[in-house]
Amino acid sequence: MSAQVATRRLTQADLAKLYAAGEKIVMFTAYDASFARLLDGAGVECLLIGDSLGNVIQGHDTTLPVTVADIAYHTAAVKRGSGRPFIIADMPFGSYQESPEQAFRNAAALMAAGAQMVKLEGGQEMADTVRFLVQRGIPVCGHVGLTPQSVHVLGGYKVQGKGEAAALRLKADAQALQDAGATMIVLEAIPAVLAAEVTAQLAIITIGIGAGKDCSGQVMVVHDAFDIPPGKKAKFVKNFMEGATSLHDAACRAVAAVKSATYPGPEHTYAA
Ligand code: KIV
Repeated sequence: MSAQVATRRLTQADLAKLYAAGEKIVMFTAYDASFARLLDGAGVECLLIGDSLGNVIQGHDTTLPVTVADIAYHTAAVKRGSGRPFIIADMPFGSYQESPEQAFRNAAALMAAGAQMVKLEGGQEMADTVRFLVQRGIPVCGHVGLTPQSVHVLGGYKVQGKGEAAALRLKADAQALQDAGATMIVLEAIPAVLAAEVTAQLAIITIGIGAGKDCSGQVMVVHDAFDIPPGKKAKFVKNFMEGATSLHDAACRAVAAVKSATYPGPEHTYAA
């Protein structure tokens, strides 16, 4: 049964209600007004203006060249195009790692552009920054596991949290973000068992991508879910255009699959 949520712009309180009711939360990336409207019309609850726009919109190999101005521009477009979804803006590489003050300045610009929350990558090392932002009125979503802004340190886009030591570190990172005031956390490309344990350990919403079905919700990169451009994608990606009659139909199928926990399936998950 669906929890009662508003038809106006959703708030953190609305998402907390869904979470408390045990309803899976559906998040998609969006970068423009048209896709934002399409995803809104399918019942998507959260739109993330991800720095993945560096890859799928700008054609870069990594997310590293994306700027605060880029994210602000796309956030404003997504806000104009949608009415109901909760809007989260990614903090790009180099816009928050230097100091909490730098993070606040850039997060404030994204909130002014229309975001209701910012997302930043990193664990325990970002806790002071998360606390600084939250205490000054900026809701924060953490992001642990595969953190694409650290691709050159990680040595590639690899599954994280494998093995006991890495799993313990990831759990400590997630806990530190929650303790600092983060109210949502993205778990990317980690074993499904570990994501389930982190979700059980935390009292905040976990959003999985390549992290199995037991997270509180799922995020999909819109170009991946709609197979744009056509071709092979990461193991956790499902092509919702398969069997769909339109983009709207594909988006509705994706929402239904997350809500019913039929996506992600075992074929989309990583072993410990
Ligand atoms: O930038 C992005 O799209 C993201 C998601 C993959 C979570 O961070």
